[in-house]
Order: sequence, then C-alpha cells, then structure tokens
Amino acid sequence: MPKIVTEVPGPKSREIIAQAEKYEPQSMGDQMPVVWDHAEGCVVTDVDGNEYLDWCSGVLVTNVGHCHPYYVEQVKAQCDRLFNCYDFVTRPRADLARKLVEITPDYLDKAFLVTTGSDATEAAMRMARRVSDGFEIIGFDGAFHGRTYGAASAGGMRGSKQGYGPMTPGFLHAPFPYLYRAPLCQGKSEEEASQACLEYLDWLVDRQSCGALAAVITEPYQGGAGGIIPPKSWIEGLDRWCKDRGLIFILDEVQSSFGRCGKMFCMEHWDIKPDLITLGKGLGSGIPCSAVVGRSEVMDALPPGSMGSTNGGNPISSVAALAAIEIIEREGLVENAARMGELFEARFLDIQQRVPQLGDVRVLGLMGGLEFVTDPESREPAPDLTRAVVSECLKRGLICIAPIGLYRNVIRVAPPLVITPEQASESLDIFEESVVEAVRASGL
Ligand SMILES: Cc1ncc(COP(=O)(O)O)c(C=O)c1O
Repeated sequence: MPKIVTEVPGPKSREIIAQAEKYEPQSMGDQMPVVWDHAEGCVVTDVDGNEYLDWCSGVLVTNVGHCHPYYVEQVKAQCDRLFNCYDFVTRPRADLARKLVEITPDYLDKAFLVTTGSDATEAAMRMARRVSDGFEIIGFDGAFHGRTYGAASAGGMRGSKQGYGPMTPGFLHAPFPYLYRAPLCQGKSEEEASQACLEYLDWLVDRQSCGALAAVITEPYQGGAGGIIPPKSWIEGLDRWCKDRGLIFILDEVQSSFGRCGKMFCMEHWDIKPDLITLGKGLGSGIPCSAVVGRSEVMDALPPGSMGSTNGGNPISSVAALAAIEIIEREGLVENAARMGELFEARFLDIQQRVPQLGDVRVLGLMGGLEFVTDPESREPAPDLTRAVVSECLKRGLICIAPIGLYRNVIRVAPPLVITPEQASESLDIFEESVVEAVRASGL
C-alpha cells in the first residue's frame, strides 16, 4: 500500500530530473515529476523511497505486473544462452510465433515479429499494400499508430504531424465515433452516430479516393486520443464495410491486447474479423517485442527477404513474451482485468454523480479514460483541473501518466492486470480524495 515519506518530487528525484532536462531533448514531453527506481506487482518505488500504487503499467506495457518473478527468471535464464542471431531461426522465436497463432482466432495463421508498435504498423501497411491492387489507406481522426512517418501519416493526431513537413501520401482520414465530442455524433443516439460515421466513409471515398484503395486501419478503442471506445455497431459495421469492398482491415491492438480490455484481445468484444492485427506493449510486458498476426494469404504476399528486422523476434524478447503470455493464462489475468474493470467503472460512475466536472467515464476492462470538463453542459475541456488531479494523486501515493487526450483533459487508468481488490479500492479512494481536493482548489 502507498507510503509517501518525502515531498513529491523528493530531493533525489529533483536532482535526476534536472540532469535529464539538461542532457535530454524536451521532446520527451509531459512527464510527471517522479523518478522510478524499482517496482513489484502493482507498486512503484521512487528514488526517494516513496511507494505508489500504479495506474500506468509503464505505458500500458507491464500487464503481468512489474518484475513478475517467473518473467524475471525466464529472461535471466535466456541471458545466459543467446541474445541475437538475426537471420537464423531460434526455438523461442518459433515458439512465440506458434503461440501467437494459437491464442488468436483460428483464421489468423502467421505471426511476424518486430520490436516496436510503430514497426508493427509499418509492417502491416506494407503487407496490405503489397497484397492489394491499390495503395490508399483509410485512417481515423484522433488515431495513434506510432511516430514513424508511415504510422504518423495513418494516424489522426496533429501533434505527430505539425511542423514535420509533408506526411507520406496515400492516406485518407474519416471521423471516429467520439460520441462525447465529434461534431458528426452530437445530438444523435449511439446507433445514429455509428451510422453517420460509416456513411461518411462512402462520401470520403466518392470525393477523395483515386480509385486505389488498399486498406483501413483503426485502433479498437483510441488510446492516445483519450480512451475513446466506439459503439459495437460502428466497429462491426466497419468490418463489413471493408469486406464488402475487398479491403484489408488492419486492427491496431498494440495497447488493447493481452488482457488489457478484459479479453485476451480487444477484438473479442465484437463480431469482427480483421485481416491483420498489430501487437506490442503488453506482448513483451517490459522487454520490447511487437508483432503482426494475420492471414497467410496476406502475410505471404511479401517475397522472401523483403521484410525483416535486426532485433525482431530475438531470443530475449521472445522468451519474455512467452513468459508473459504464460503468466496471463496461468494466473487468470484476463478474468481479473474484467472483474476489476467492473469495480473501477462502478466507482467512477458513482464519483461522477457528486463531481460533475468528471464529464465522461469510459472503461473497458482495465483501460479507462476519465474526461474532465469545466461544466457538464458546455463540456469545455479542463486541462488545468486534470493536471491538478494527477498531482494530488501523486502526493497521496497513486501514480498516473500525465493527462492525455486531444485537449489534455483525460486521465488514463491502466493498472497492471495483477491488481488486487484491496489495491483497486485503495487507489480509488485516493483518486476520489484527489478529485475532490483539486475541484475545491480550482474554484470551479
Ligand atoms: C495503438 C498504438 N499503436 C502503436 C503505438 C506505437 O508503439 P511504439 O511506441 O512501441 O512504437 C502505440 C504507442 O503508444 C499505440 O498506443
């Protein structure tokens, strides 16, 4: 349970932050002022000896909890054997490819291993273009698929594009059903909003496509944009829309998979059949590892030698991923995420009754997006209040990522999936106290 023994940030944290600010570029951005030293399960200890409950999991990475003993043991054992052998198959790489094919739906039958989520996005788009007669890819407003040029071009985040010259050509963008804010969704029921967003796709293709469509890419829920969960009717409609037009459907499950959403893969919430899924973050659960899993007709369209990656599928990351998947299965972490997620959602909705500035509550398993506004009528974003809530949480021993979302007014809730009911309820108590204090101090 949390233990705060210095002011936050403490003196050692302040010194290391000053060093980082001197020697690192400011592009690392908006980081909360805590210097992590070590962590175990759901508890993070900073360099000043303060202990926090964790609502970050790195950044939705350490799904099996920090430094899980079995994970550490497996990785250490592999360190004594082999680190890299690029062009040669290894047992861990072959085992991980098989495991990924086994745990994904039956029609997905090949897995390609790379290192980062952005690599997986790039690889999936290369496959989709190669197998298709066209090249155009449709992405969505607010989407985040990585920071490489192709991935940023597919995404719909201004911050990844502004000031970086032209993005790569061949991308079209459509509205995502952000029910709380997207103009196309206002004043409409969920069903009507879904329909409007789907109809817009036809309009977009009619007006802007040069007749060379290849694929559609979306996250199952939009993470960086603020944990925005689409209606079931939209994502199922999108799947049908792709199938009717013979387009490759790429689902970016980089942050939504490996139990995070209360299912092994978020896609299991819906009746959809994407052709390619991209995986990252929770796959390695700490050691970088990412993958594309897909139908062999698509994946094998690339000729031998046309795609590889120096560190992709290396024995250390493969062993780490295999250990993480084993822990998720053996310890029932998918089920725990679903159970704890219900507890979190109920409590957030309860807090919302008393705190109208908590404008929108979006929860799917152990992924939450809490959107703060100055008042629920105008829905004006409240980034200062949001940041104040995160600071109050830190002071009380709950660690959250800096606010996210298109207006930096969303708190992301993403604890490791090993969180216990006691830790959940203690962290929720801290959150509620922090919200009440931040609202009081803001004068809203
Ligand atoms: C949905 C999604 N796709 C892709 C990426 C890119 O992953 P990476 O930072 O490992 O390149 C991220 C990272 O946050 C993500 O959330």
